[in-house]
Amino acid sequence: MSVQRSSSPNSVWDSIPGIAFGGDYNPEQWPVDVRLEDIELMKEAGVNLLSVGIFSWALLEPKEGEYDFAWLDEVLDNLAAAGIKVALATPTAAPPAWLVRKHPEILPVTADGTVLERGSRRHYSPSSAVYRKYAAGITRKLAERYKDHPALALWHVDNELGCHASEFYGEEDAEAFRRWLERHYGSIEGLNEAWGTAFWSQHYSSFEEIIPPRAAPTTLNPTQRLDFQRFSSWALMDYYRTLLAVIREVTPHVPATTNLMVSSGTRSMDYFDWSENLDVVANDHYLVTADPEREIELAFSADLTRGVAGNKPWILMEHSTSAVNWQPRNQPKRPGEMLRNSLAHVARGADAVMFFQWRQSAAGAEKFHSAMVPHGGRETRVWREVVGLGEALGKLSAVKGSIVESRVAIVFDYEAWWASELDSHPSEDVKYLNVLREFHRSLFLRGVTVDFVHPTADLSSYGLVLVCTLYCVTDEAAANIAGAAERGATVLISYFSGIVDERDHIRLGGYPGAFRELLGIRTEEFRPLFEGEETVLSDGTRGRIWSEHVHLDGAEALASFTTYPLEGVPAITRRSAGTGSAWYLATLPDREGIERLVDKLLTEAGVAACAEAAAGVELSRRVQADGRSFLFAINHSREDAAVKADGEDLLGGGRFGGVVPAGAVAVIAED
Ligand code: GLA
Repeated sequence: MSVQRSSSPNSVWDSIPGIAFGGDYNPEQWPVDVRLEDIELMKEAGVNLLSVGIFSWALLEPKEGEYDFAWLDEVLDNLAAAGIKVALATPTAAPPAWLVRKHPEILPVTADGTVLERGSRRHYSPSSAVYRKYAAGITRKLAERYKDHPALALWHVDNELGCHASEFYGEEDAEAFRRWLERHYGSIEGLNEAWGTAFWSQHYSSFEEIIPPRAAPTTLNPTQRLDFQRFSSWALMDYYRTLLAVIREVTPHVPATTNLMVSSGTRSMDYFDWSENLDVVANDHYLVTADPEREIELAFSADLTRGVAGNKPWILMEHSTSAVNWQPRNQPKRPGEMLRNSLAHVARGADAVMFFQWRQSAAGAEKFHSAMVPHGGRETRVWREVVGLGEALGKLSAVKGSIVESRVAIVFDYEAWWASELDSHPSEDVKYLNVLREFHRSLFLRGVTVDFVHPTADLSSYGLVLVCTLYCVTDEAAANIAGAAERGATVLISYFSGIVDERDHIRLGGYPGAFRELLGIRTEEFRPLFEGEETVLSDGTRGRIWSEHVHLDGAEALASFTTYPLEGVPAITRRSAGTGSAWYLATLPDREGIERLVDKLLTEAGVAACAEAAAGVELSRRVQADGRSFLFAINHSREDAAVKADGEDLLGGGRFGGVVPAGAVAVIAED
């Protein structure tokens, strides 16, 4: 359900010329002379958008009902005079001390009953009625004060909803959970049936008996956990909507968003579900510095963000110029890495590149986190690279608004992520992303762009559709996936997909119940592998984590297990379906096995790379509605790399010469 509005908000893109560039700005940490220097430095770097006021509540309302907006007035006026737009934050991610002292019941409670105290941030439960009232109150004050301010281009609601804690187990949360269940199931009998409460004497006589899945002696009811996960994602979004309702009422013309945390590590919020409430999708992304393939994880996150955004341009709301401060060892980015990271996000659909934060803090918990203006000021590599990035983005205005081109879809479902990783399953090694990330990696390395799509999305434009560990699936989604194959796509489904319905009830009659017919196979028993155990397939593929006893029922075997006790049992199968095909994969292949399989799938689907390029070059193409196309070639290697493309070199100027220097990026406006 989306919040009603009296008129459509403007687009944030209309208020900013070219690609947006900037970051979180926390001027309240600095005296006036530094704030004035900030404006000069922002102009030097070409900054045009800033998120302001994210953690300012205690200064804006130092005592209940006593406000001090003078400093923010000055900051916004100066930014407006400099032509810089603002994503104004509701300062609600850190409630002030006076509020918590007066209402300690707003504090979050964990599954084991621990109350999380103030002293850091995000110390509130989104279901607290009192908190919602106060958060809506300060939002209204801000909206009324700045509704006509020329700097205001976007609302930045709260900050990273679900960061640090995303599930809340207190009494008020329990009450909200009960009401959510009541709306969802209508009757307690419906809930008993869905939760399978005949098992372990869990039958309920009324919704009042229900509690969240708090710490318990052993395995909790899996459907209760799945529903609590659904509820928890909904509760955060419902809190967002409370603030959005105020924003819509007071500033119907101003678009609103909140910064998501789409990545391979964030699974608690169903961002596909959230996106309908966001006028523009915004994401924060941080590299895991110790990951030698961190550019692939970045691409995964950016591709998934684009999926959440429905393939519309999105905002990279935060990333880092260099080191973060919250990993065990925080190395700075390598020379040129920030530019490659930034343009990789743009290559994958971002029309805004922003950072946490503008000026590196001198005090507080994040003083060792890099920023656009480092502790060392202008005489630093980071500052020079920030200025260089501003220049580069300035040359990419023609790219703004274009759409990323892709003919491969990976079906992505947060519910399947949650449900597949519940406990008491055949193997704790089965992780939702295991197979999915292997496919994405292989396609990334080949220069083939992937879209992530919800299981019920329109799949008609894709030649290849990959369905990985889609453990729970609705009838509607299963039919949608089957329809893609029938209409000509090559569809691959991996193990532990289609096993249960949305209530986490087994689809009986042989696995994988939802896809048995489409695939033309029937599995009678799973045989997960022990840690370190491998199975070998007849085509040489080595499999890890999983094997199973598959029978053919209309499909042909492309490869079989060769190891005891599954010798001769099909491991990779294919069935023609309509004008397309349905493939099954019954293990997690090693890298060579994945390459072999992806070769075959791409050939059958007739899908090719964006361009021919040397190894180490990341490729992506964005296309404007009028047909102009832009090839992004990002050279992650330390050697010059050849790329076959003809057109204008937007960053270097002149014709593209066919080589992207070591560590550099080329954006080619193709002929
Ligand atoms: C998150 C937060 C920011 C900051 C950064 C540090 O993204 O939104 O306030 O804490 O992390 O990496």
